[in-house]
Amino acid sequence: MKKTLEENNRREFLKKCGLTTVPFLLPTAGLDAMTLSSDETGSPIGNEIVNFIYDGLNLSPRQYIDKLRDIDLANRIEPDFYGKGGSTQLLEDEFARLTGKEKAMYLPTGTMANQLAIKLLSGKNTKVIVPENSHVFRDEADAAQSVHGKRLVPVGHDQPYFELKDLKSSIDYMKQNEVFRSGLGAVVIENPVRRANGMAVPIETIKEISAYCKKNGIKMHLDGARIHLAMAYTGISLKEYASCFDTVYISLYKYLNTTGGAILCGETAIIDQLAHQIKIFGGTVFQSWTNTSMALHFLEGIELRLKQVVDTAGKLVTELNKIEGLKISALNNGTNIYDLSLASHINSKELSTILYKEHDILLRPSENGLLRLAVNESLLLRDFNEIVHAWRAAIKTFSK
Ligand SMILES: Cc1ncc(COP(=O)(O)O)c(C=O)c1O
Repeated sequence: MKKTLEENNRREFLKKCGLTTVPFLLPTAGLDAMTLSSDETGSPIGNEIVNFIYDGLNLSPRQYIDKLRDIDLANRIEPDFYGKGGSTQLLEDEFARLTGKEKAMYLPTGTMANQLAIKLLSGKNTKVIVPENSHVFRDEADAAQSVHGKRLVPVGHDQPYFELKDLKSSIDYMKQNEVFRSGLGAVVIENPVRRANGMAVPIETIKEISAYCKKNGIKMHLDGARIHLAMAYTGISLKEYASCFDTVYISLYKYLNTTGGAILCGETAIIDQLAHQIKIFGGTVFQSWTNTSMALHFLEGIELRLKQVVDTAGKLVTELNKIEGLKISALNNGTNIYDLSLASHINSKELSTILYKEHDILLRPSENGLLRLAVNESLLLRDFNEIVHAWRAAIKTFSK
C-alpha cells in the first residue's frame, strides 16, 4: 500500500515536471549542474537507469541514502570532526597514496581547491597561466582576480588545451611588453577538458610543459576534476599524471558519485596551509563523512569499472551503428562523449522521451541539431543486449 502511494506520488511528481522533462531542460554545457530531481530513483518502469548524460551514476536521494546504509552495514562509517579522522582521513590518505603526493586534503568544492592551489603555489607572484578553455578561467567567477589577487593569463584561445610553444610565447610576450615584472607563479592544466567534451590532453604535451616549468621554477597545478576518465581512456596511471604537477585536484562527485567535495594533493608544505585558508573563506565544514565515505566506496575498483565502461561503450557504439537512422561517431582525441546524429524522420525529443519512459534510458535531446552521447558507469548496471534492444525498439517506433 505504502509502495503504491509512493509510486503514485513519484509519477505525479514526474508528471508535474512536464513528462519528466527535468533532465532535458538543462543546457548542454551544464552537464555538471544536472540532477534528476526525483523522489526515488527516477525510473519510470523500475529498472536501474542507464544515463547517457552525466559523468556518473547521478544517484537519487533515496539511492544515496540506501548506498550509505549499505556501506555502513558492511563496514561501519567513522565520522570525521571538522575534517579530522574518520572516513575523511582515510580518503585523504588513500588519495595521497594513489597520487604519490606527500599529503591530501578534503575541500568542500573543486573551485576552492583550484583557487587555493593557485594562490598557495604562486606565493607573492601575481600571474597564473591558465587554459583559455578551462574551468579556472571561465567558470570560477573571477575568484583569482577578485579574491586572491592573482591575474589569470589565458593561453590557447579557441583550443582545447595549449602546447609548450603557446606557453613560451605567452611568457615571452609578457616579458617583452610589461615593464613591471610581477612574477609568474603557476601554470594550470585541465585534463580532461570539460569544455572540449572531455578531450584528453596528450601526456607528451603535459610532460613537455612540466619539464619546462620545473626547469624555470614555475609551479604547476592540475585541474583533474575528471582525471579518472582520462586514466581509463589513456591507460596512464594517476601517479604518472600527478608526477607532472605540484598540486592535483580531483572531484569527488564526477566519478565517485558523492553529492559534492574535492581532494587536493601535494607536498606537505602546501597542504598544511589549506586548513587555515579554507576557514578564511568559510569552507570549513563540521563533518564531511557523507561525501568521503561514499567516495571511498566508489574509489575502490574505479579503474577497473571505468575500463569496463570504455570497452562496453566501444561495443555499444558498434551495435547501435547497425541500427538504421542512427550514427554515433567518436570525437577527435575524445573520451566518453560521442556525437550522435539521427535521420531526419527521428525527432530527438520524442526519442529521448520514449527511451526514458519505456526503457529507463536517459538521453538529452538535441539543441541546435547537436546530439551528444556520454557514457558512464551506469552502462554497467544493465544487461548489454537489453540496452541495445531498447535503442532498437525506440528507433523502430519512427519507422514509416
Ligand atoms: C573541470 C572542472 N574543474 C573544477 C570544477 C569545480 O568543481 P566544484 O563544482 O566542486 O566547484 C568543475 C565542476 O564542474 C569542473 O568541471
